[in-house]
This record gives sequence, C-alpha cells and structure tokens, in this order.
Amino acid sequence: MNQPGAVRRPLIAGNWKMNKTIAQACELIRELRACTLPAGVDVVVAPPFTALQAVAAELRGSSIGLCAQTMHENDHGAYTGEIAPPMLREIGVRYVILGHSERRAYDGETDEAVGRKTRSALRHGMTPIVAVGETASEHEEGLTLEKVTMQVRAAFAGLGAREVASCVVAYEPIWAIGSGHFEEPESADAVIAHIRRAVDGLEDARLLYGGSMKAQNAAALMAQPNIDGGLIGGASLAAATFVPIVEAAYAHA
Ligand code: 13P
Repeated sequence: MNQPGAVRRPLIAGNWKMNKTIAQACELIRELRACTLPAGVDVVVAPPFTALQAVAAELRGSSIGLCAQTMHENDHGAYTGEIAPPMLREIGVRYVILGHSERRAYDGETDEAVGRKTRSALRHGMTPIVAVGETASEHEEGLTLEKVTMQVRAAFAGLGAREVASCVVAYEPIWAIGSGHFEEPESADAVIAHIRRAVDGLEDARLLYGGSMKAQNAAALMAQPNIDGGLIGGASLAAATFVPIVEAAYAHA
C-alpha cells in the first residue's frame, strides 16, 4: 500500500523503445482499447517518434496518455535529427522519458543535459519521467544510492518542491533491464525510498520501478510502500503482457 494519506495514483508506462512500425503501433493501441483497463491507474505509452501522431489519433477519446521517449531541450534550431518540445506538444504528448540508461549509454546524455531537458519539459507543460539507475558493477560495489542520488539531484537542480513533486522518477537498475532479472521488491523499495528523500518534493512525486517488470512480479513490486508504478519495456509490446501489469497495479497499489 502507499503511505497513509498519500494521493499518488499508480502509473504504468510502456516504453516501446525502437519497436513497432506505425501499423503495428496502431494495432497495439486498438488491442489495448479493447481491454477494460482499471480506471484507478494512469496508463501511458511511449511509441517511437514516427508513430506518435498516428497513435495520438488512435488514442482519441481514451484515457491512455501519450509519452515521448526523449526530446531536445531547445524549442527549435540547427540540431539535425532531434525533436523539439513544441513539436511533441502539438501532437498531444503529455509525458516524456528523460535520461533513459540507453540514451545515457548510447547517446552521451549527461546528468546536466537531463536537468536541462527536465526544466524544458516542465516549461512546455509535459511531465518528465526521469530514469535513473546503476550499472551491474556499481551495484556490486555498493554504489547504488550514491549514483541515483547524484542523478536525481542533477535532474531536478534549480526546481522548487512543487515542480519536483509534479515529476515522475523511474528507478531502473541497468543490470535488470531486458535481462529477466529484476531487483527484489524490498531492495527496489529501499532504493526508491532513498530517492524519495534525496530531493525536496520527491516525497510527493510518483516513483516507478523499471527493469524486467512483468505480470509475474508486478504485484510484489506494487505492494511496496514507495513504488507507485512501473516503466515497462519488453512486456509493454503486447496487450497480453501489458494489461496484467496494469491490473496488478490497480489491485496492489
Ligand atoms: P524491460 O522491461 O524490457 O526490462 O525494460 C525496462 C526499461 O528499460 C523501460 O524503460
């Protein structure tokens, strides 16, 4: 259960990463819309850029939120290959994943850049889902708390507690992503509890777990007091594997 008195609605976000053509993306949205999703959970999907507009049209009249997987911090300019916040807003994007470990690893996204993007997303009225987490070797060396503290402090630098509270953080241990190995629910909760205390405002923010979260482990993760939802990769690519996670979030939050 969440902390007594807390009003943190569960949030389940599907990060489709570099998967799905427009046709496949629309097909999945039709499948999700055919399911009865519990009204007490915020459900969000993050298709690749090419499918965002078609998915927005497919989602019309639905409560499922639209999320981008990254964005540039500037509003426009000479940044070949990048997508600006106003372009996302124009399509109806409400959430944006920032600082995913794959972007930090393959695209050189730094803590400072994540901070600039977080402030930019808020300026444009989007909810940042800031991803943090440690590598396998950092985990083994006991550096997890140090690493995530540094990452969240950089992401939220210069923001007031109210703005911070409106953001979402996803704790994704890098060694758990796509590996089938997930962090033990109690250990994940302990890290997330630490994150909650690391920056003013995060005590009221929604904090998610990510990394091989599936129907089989969602109930145990969601039952933890500090875990408000999940950022789901592989299991978000089909309604049959995604919807049971949403149901578990509803039943165990
Ligand atoms: P998996 O659920 O495939 O482990 O991916 C997690 C993730 O990186 C979500 O952003």
